[in-house]
Amino acid sequence: MNFKSIFTFLMTLSLCVSCVKSTKTKNDKVFQTIDLQLQGMVDETSDSNRLPRCTNEDGSLRMVRASDWTSGFFPGVLWLQYQYTQEDKWKTLAQGYTSRLEKQQFNTRTHDVGFMMYCSYGTGYRLAPSPEYKEILLNTANSLMTRYNPQVKCIRSWDHNKDKWDFPVIIDNMMNLELLFWATEVSGDSSYYEVAMNHALTTLANHFRPDNSCYHVVAYNPETGAVEKKNTHQGYAHESVWSRGQAWAIYGYTLSYRASGDERFLAQAEKVAHFMMNHPKLPEDKIPYWDLDDPTIPQAPRDASAAAVISSALYELALYSDEDHKAEYKAFADEILSSLSSPAYLAEVGSNNHFLLKHSVGNMPKADEVDEPIIYADYYFMEALLRQADFENGTLLKKLK
Ligand code: GLY
Repeated sequence: MNFKSIFTFLMTLSLCVSCVKSTKTKNDKVFQTIDLQLQGMVDETSDSNRLPRCTNEDGSLRMVRASDWTSGFFPGVLWLQYQYTQEDKWKTLAQGYTSRLEKQQFNTRTHDVGFMMYCSYGTGYRLAPSPEYKEILLNTANSLMTRYNPQVKCIRSWDHNKDKWDFPVIIDNMMNLELLFWATEVSGDSSYYEVAMNHALTTLANHFRPDNSCYHVVAYNPETGAVEKKNTHQGYAHESVWSRGQAWAIYGYTLSYRASGDERFLAQAEKVAHFMMNHPKLPEDKIPYWDLDDPTIPQAPRDASAAAVISSALYELALYSDEDHKAEYKAFADEILSSLSSPAYLAEVGSNNHFLLKHSVGNMPKADEVDEPIIYADYYFMEALLRQADFENGTLLKKLK
């Protein structure tokens, strides 16, 4: 090799290295903020056996018991920080906070065990598989299975509000199917898969309106399986577009397509995505109002959590879609992330009770968690940031399968 070719070789090598580095470090600045905020949250909460959820009306941090539906998100956030940094410090912290949820593996009183355990133990198992986590997750899947009704062909969501509903199924429940699909994959027992498929198909038949938006709650007769009511619980009105519900639908049908290859699920995820992406009330920065039918728009609060869920889902949906839509979904997800990473939504270090994102809405009808930080917004924001990087370097599909 002469001097010129050695020089050319070294230049090419350094270009490649900087190219890889720039992809990997695209969101480094955001992750620096995340690092400091998470450290602040850990300092604040390490002595407790509760988990951070949101900010109270008086500005204080709201910590919740392990049985609260949001308990798994902060452990999940710590796991995602471990995924990004690969530092043992975050893994140890994630393991410690995750263990606060251990007893929930036997909780049969809510469908939310899927959220709670799959975002904590499930994310942990994906990044650091262990027989202990596998057993806990399979026990959780068995707990979730007890809520399945073969007449309705759905998993019952809630036990509360019995005066309103006998057998409520909420669109959010689509997210809990990921645990069941996973359980069949690791155990070889197809019963989890069958329940997940039946639930997804029944929801497909009953939860969607002709314009492809979805209802929040569909109530069934548990004896006959007949639909009794189509309602909302957290939206503006029964017939309104509650943004987080649409987000759960896009994400839930995308993951169901990943697990089953059923084209009906891919089509539904795309239909809801198009509905949201082209909605005339969607603001320019792509962060939806909490409900797109709130008559106070444009004064109505935004919901950063819905945006984060949609963005994370769209990176995956882009993998499965044809070339035109792939680019469209990726660009839309990028726009959301760029808004969420701006000072309008991303908290300054040391502020926001150490949560990452501002401006989410939990339960507007109860005037609870309105325009506040909420932990699940942070979880899906981090997941979306990591998915964006994996999408761009071509590793996302492999990591999801
Ligand atoms: N799963 C409840 C919610 O989205 O608020």
